[in-house]
Amino acid sequence: MTYRRISVEPLTPAIGAEISDIDLREPLDDEAHAEVRRALLAHGVVFFRDQPIDHDQHIAFGRRFGELHIHPASPCVDGRPELMRVHTDADSTRQNGHQWHSDVSCDEEPPMGSVLHLHTVPECGGDTLFSSMYAAWDALSESMKALLAPLEASHESAHLYDHLYGDAVVRRRNDWPSAVHPVVRTHPETGRKALFVNAIFTRRILGVTESESRGLLEFLFEHVANPHFQCRFRWRRNSIAFWDNRCVQHHAMWDYYPSTRSGTRVTVAGDRPRH
Ligand code: SIN
Repeated sequence: MTYRRISVEPLTPAIGAEISDIDLREPLDDEAHAEVRRALLAHGVVFFRDQPIDHDQHIAFGRRFGELHIHPASPCVDGRPELMRVHTDADSTRQNGHQWHSDVSCDEEPPMGSVLHLHTVPECGGDTLFSSMYAAWDALSESMKALLAPLEASHESAHLYDHLYGDAVVRRRNDWPSAVHPVVRTHPETGRKALFVNAIFTRRILGVTESESRGLLEFLFEHVANPHFQCRFRWRRNSIAFWDNRCVQHHAMWDYYPSTRSGTRVTVAGDRPRH
């Protein structure tokens, strides 16, 4: 695959690429935008180094890829709900995303992508792991694929958000999102099949017994964590990761306590997952 405006260095054959020779403080013209989008679709998650963007530039970059998604509850920066605060320090009792997931899959139309910019990073640790849900689907046996292909699962958030954000100023209190999605979705742009259940939001596979659902989800959550499907990103100050939630899950390591790791996330809206 050739690019004229950016350089693209894959991290692993399954997932991830680093993009260089681009300054994200500048608006993306059509050709640069098309190439970044092509790299994202080809690799599932793309990384940029040394990008000291401000909040407006961060929002402008996200908007280039679609309408922005507003998180139902998470704290934001500068009173701007499209700028989600991602921050952990010595006073934190938890870190966002410290478990395999795709962002806000409990929404009827889960986000297409997320763009995370970190301005403060620990000396070491705080990596983010990414896992390709194309690779996870492709690695299943034909018998398991046949079993899972027609199934749907419920994705919920009350169990998480009530506890996390119950006392905060929230946007959708008493109306926490929940949705039913296919267990395997067809990516609307690549046409590839991607496994779409995750340990944070997926609570129940429908159309099977409770214990069958439990057993299947336990197997699938373990399957998603197979290192063959993964890459791991080591952050530096002013790195950016842009991942496609339709075909990628991620897991943020919290192995750097009591150091500080801080930045903002802009999230691009998506569409309803289809079989
Ligand atoms: C998230 O958006 O889930 C957090 C990811 C990270 O902090 O690396």
